[in-house]
Amino acid sequence: MPDLPPPLRQLQAEFALSTGQLAAIAALFRREMAAGLEGRTSSLAMLPSYLTCPTGLEQGAYLALDFGGTNVRALLVELLGDGRYRVLGRRSAPLADPEGAYDFTAGAARDLFGFLAAQLADLAEGEGPYFLGHSFSFPCRQTGVNSASLIQWTKEIKTAGVEGQDLTSLLTAALQRRGLDHIRPVALLNDSVSTLIAAAYREPRTDIGSICGTGHNTCYLEPAPPWGRQPMYINIEAGNFAKVDGNSYDALVDQASEKPGAARLEKMCSGRYIGELFRLVLQDLTGRGLLFAGAPASPELFRPSDGADLALILGDESPELEQIALWLDDRGQAGRHSLDDRSALRSAASLIAIRSARLVAATYAGVLQHLDPAVHRDHAIAVDGSLYEKMPGYARVIGLTLAELLGDRAGRVRVYLTKDGSGVGAAVAAATVSR
Ligand code: BGC
Repeated sequence: MPDLPPPLRQLQAEFALSTGQLAAIAALFRREMAAGLEGRTSSLAMLPSYLTCPTGLEQGAYLALDFGGTNVRALLVELLGDGRYRVLGRRSAPLADPEGAYDFTAGAARDLFGFLAAQLADLAEGEGPYFLGHSFSFPCRQTGVNSASLIQWTKEIKTAGVEGQDLTSLLTAALQRRGLDHIRPVALLNDSVSTLIAAAYREPRTDIGSICGTGHNTCYLEPAPPWGRQPMYINIEAGNFAKVDGNSYDALVDQASEKPGAARLEKMCSGRYIGELFRLVLQDLTGRGLLFAGAPASPELFRPSDGADLALILGDESPELEQIALWLDDRGQAGRHSLDDRSALRSAASLIAIRSARLVAATYAGVLQHLDPAVHRDHAIAVDGSLYEKMPGYARVIGLTLAELLGDRAGRVRVYLTKDGSGVGAAVAAATVSR
């Protein structure tokens, strides 16, 4: 980062992570993985998926339901073998209506699952049966490939009556209420696992999957799982990693969240929270008179922000930072900001985004060290999610940080985007199970 103006130097110190700190995080992550696998106390749940690698030869039409933290997507996917597929139909809807007409993130289980079933109805107009893979982006205790109960909500969702419940039973009941008995849920999997399966369907060497979006998580193919003899995809629930020290802003984000103390890493790096970190930084700098010539800011400036705000701010490369100017105008600061202010906003957004990418890369190094301590083999990490896809510089910083931590061995690790992997992966999972 170029020389920062004095108000931001302190901020830089709060968000900076040295190579030594990152290496320590990688080592701790690896240790927590081992503890979780052995059933010892760990912030990493290491949840079994009961799924192993696809062959790439899976064929046929399957339904997929992709329930993330923000949207629900339903897909009818035709798998063509040879790692190829075609999407025959698709529906998508936000979980909370932007106009405020409904909000399934805070209601009751019956309504939420009714909404999920409704998305599938139009895609299953034939007689069926339609086999369905359900990608569910929350931590689940699985006892088999199709039986999983939600451990707890993350990403601030609070729909009642789902935690502790069997998700396939909830969905099956909702399908039956709508007369959709010809849709048969056969696999339930985490979105990190479905992303990895979609990638492995096309590129069998991919052994790590990750989500850098509204939430954050990573999974990998465990060669020697404690739950069976075949290699198995393990959902690390990486976002809950707790052996990482946050700063004063992280503490505020955590205290104000639905579940203080949980999801420590996710609250430092995912799209659901980095906007809030940015908002708190702005509030702090403004309160200390370090922005806007010391004048108080419009309360509008402190409206909630999200990852998309940061992406917009970081993407502004115009000499006068015109996009940032518009962003500030829209938040009640028209005529009250200088180029220095705009540049300070950009630096603050950059510090937050870079820390996020560096933390994520350190955990990838931890997973690689677990799988292959000397990184003798080639590995590929398939990543999906808005941060990885859209945050300027994010993917590059992950690559650079891996090189910082692994040296030349980073050349054996390919990190790549698997867009919309979770829906396709859920269809592949349904195919592997119903084969
Ligand atoms: C959830 C994970 C999920 C991740 C990405 C986290 O909040 O706990 O299960 O994979 O978000 O969607």
